[in-house]
Amino acid sequence: MYPLRRNRRLRTNESIRTLVRENIITPSDFLVPLFVVEGKGVKEEIPSMPNYFRLSLDNLEKEVKELWYMGLGAVLLFVKVPVNLKDNKGTEALNPDGLMQRAIKTIKNACPDMLVMTDVALDPYSSYGHDGIVEDGQIINDETTEVLAEMSISHALAGADFVAPSDMMDGRILTIREALEEEGLFNTGIMSYSAKYASAFYGPFRDALDSAPGFGDKKTYQMDPANRFEAIKETEMDIDEGADIVMIKPGLCYLDIVREIKNAVDVPVAVYQVSGEYAMVKAAAERGWLDHDAVMMEQLLAIKRAGANIIASYFAKDAVKLMS
Ligand code: PBG
Repeated sequence: MYPLRRNRRLRTNESIRTLVRENIITPSDFLVPLFVVEGKGVKEEIPSMPNYFRLSLDNLEKEVKELWYMGLGAVLLFVKVPVNLKDNKGTEALNPDGLMQRAIKTIKNACPDMLVMTDVALDPYSSYGHDGIVEDGQIINDETTEVLAEMSISHALAGADFVAPSDMMDGRILTIREALEEEGLFNTGIMSYSAKYASAFYGPFRDALDSAPGFGDKKTYQMDPANRFEAIKETEMDIDEGADIVMIKPGLCYLDIVREIKNAVDVPVAVYQVSGEYAMVKAAAERGWLDHDAVMMEQLLAIKRAGANIIASYFAKDAVKLMS
């Protein structure tokens, strides 16, 4: 007796494995997160994110040119706001000459075809480190969405191609979409963080931007990691409200959600492999406990296989270097 079907035939050597491979990672899969700071000549390593940096505008310009040359054509911008400019309502977020607005212009001048997406939420601007306006210890929803809409217009006028609301307030996609349309900014897209969980994996990011919540946590607006149906509901609502792209965040622990959403919706699905996921791989590799490159590629591939059309990842450059 012999097995009628021998699956190992398709694994005999690299040539056949390559021929039958179902998923591959390419540079065009990536959205590259970038952290911007004030100053000149600044390139500060983020302590909990080895080999990842906060960049001042001059270094940002160099970085995007390098990314473009590598085939990385989309970035997602975050700014570290000086403490003295933070307040409860994110006033600085609307400054036409604010750091975000200047960062967008810097990139578009240096590299006009680079797709620029901007994070829209109050936390880097908030004296409370929360994604919305605080009143009596509560994060208030509807007033916050009005500010997010103004912020989106400001980013779009500075040249952003897409705004990426990461705040998880209810109704913000509709408020932002209507505001953009009213301004005639009908080509500005919205990538919604539609299923964003209240995750402990955001720790290093909050170090990077000095944006940790000053009181409490984000559980009244970000999702409970225990929930699955809620992710579908959130995502479908965002699409109904006008989201062009939806996103699930974090990545690896939530790939079941990614697949379900991918099967349920007909818009591109993005996945954010977040700062804590990056930090874990770096830390284990530094100790010699894991093979950095192999683990990185396996994780990225798993995200793609789960259904991601777009991967926001701090590994983008590392991965692309490995491919070339
Ligand atoms: C801000 C925002 C966060 C991240 C992206 N946008 C942090 C948070 O919600 O506290 C996390 C990204 C990462 O950890 O890499 N609203």
